[in-house]
Amino acid sequence: MGLAPPPNYHADVNKLSPQSTAVSTLTRRLFALNVVAQCAIVVTGALVRLTGSGLGCPTWPDCAEGSLIPVQRQAEGFHKYIEFGNRLLTFVLAVVIIASIIAAIRHKPRRTPLVILSASLLLGVVAQAVLGGITVLTGLNPYSVAAHFLVSIVMIALATTLYERGRERGDAKPTILVQPLLANVARLLVVVGLLVVVIGTVVTGSGPHSGDAASLVRFGLEPRAISWLHADVVIAFLGLTFALLIGLTVTSAPRRAIRAVQVLLVLIVLQGALGFTQYFLGVPELLVALHVVGACAIWWATLRIWFAMRTRLVAADLLSVEEHRST
Ligand code: HEM
Repeated sequence: MGLAPPPNYHADVNKLSPQSTAVSTLTRRLFALNVVAQCAIVVTGALVRLTGSGLGCPTWPDCAEGSLIPVQRQAEGFHKYIEFGNRLLTFVLAVVIIASIIAAIRHKPRRTPLVILSASLLLGVVAQAVLGGITVLTGLNPYSVAAHFLVSIVMIALATTLYERGRERGDAKPTILVQPLLANVARLLVVVGLLVVVIGTVVTGSGPHSGDAASLVRFGLEPRAISWLHADVVIAFLGLTFALLIGLTVTSAPRRAIRAVQVLLVLIVLQGALGFTQYFLGVPELLVALHVVGACAIWWATLRIWFAMRTRLVAADLLSVEEHRST
């Protein structure tokens, strides 16, 4: 089937890749695993906080004095296992990333952006391990807890980019398949989505789940006011997503772009309902944990829209487009 010419189609023939160089299915799954593992570590990190297990391993990198793993004599009860499980997951994550780097290096022909993206994930794990250590050593300072979360948000973005770029058929200049205004709305959506998440961490840092439940060292903001600011930005985010959906639909944009925005819209509505419910119920731990799962899913869904709006043409596509034009 021929490829319909994009609205602003102006490919430079000389810059087209000769053929598709998308990664194999196995490598694509490995790259997808990175996204899942990054989200999993955010959720287990939240569980550490929500179960009050933040100092379950009171030292770092050791879990107990003189031992990397929890020991019987420790006074921390089940908290030591929860905290240690979170630390252990970092190693799982590192294994997935190293496997991804190897897969990216072995991919023929070499696609340097994939190597750089996978290698930067490894740097991120090192940064997270250090930040995790600082979080423990500062007695769960809420600034450090929030920074730990936000670095994960960057890591999810890198992992999503790695996955999406691996699926793309090369590294030639991408062709945007939607109207320029709508492409800008998609960019703005990423900025507003990030703002929602950042303010979300400030809401947490101002409330009872900022780190150590017993600690009084919090952001010092009024939880009610900052929660409403968080919800207000969510409403703007929702409006922007809805406007993008309408814009894409009336300009007959590619179906996958429309579907990607529909997914985001559904996730925002569910997350919004969850957010208000947890707010009015006094932030029960289970709902907050689900809210963190939702935040990761929304961040992924927001980034994905951008990739659904573009293509990397290869020479074969140009032929299809020319055929399409001559008929
Ligand atoms: C697009 C929708 C939303 C996203 C992406 C989002 C994201 C987040 C994030 C990332 C956090 C910080 C989690 C953490 O640090 O562990 C958070 C916390 C929070 N959010 Fe949202 N949120 C959304 C909608 C809402 C709405 C509509 C409300 C309603 C008031 C709300 C209420 C809260 C509250 C109360 C917290 C603090 C929970 C705690 O004590 O840990 N959220 N949100």
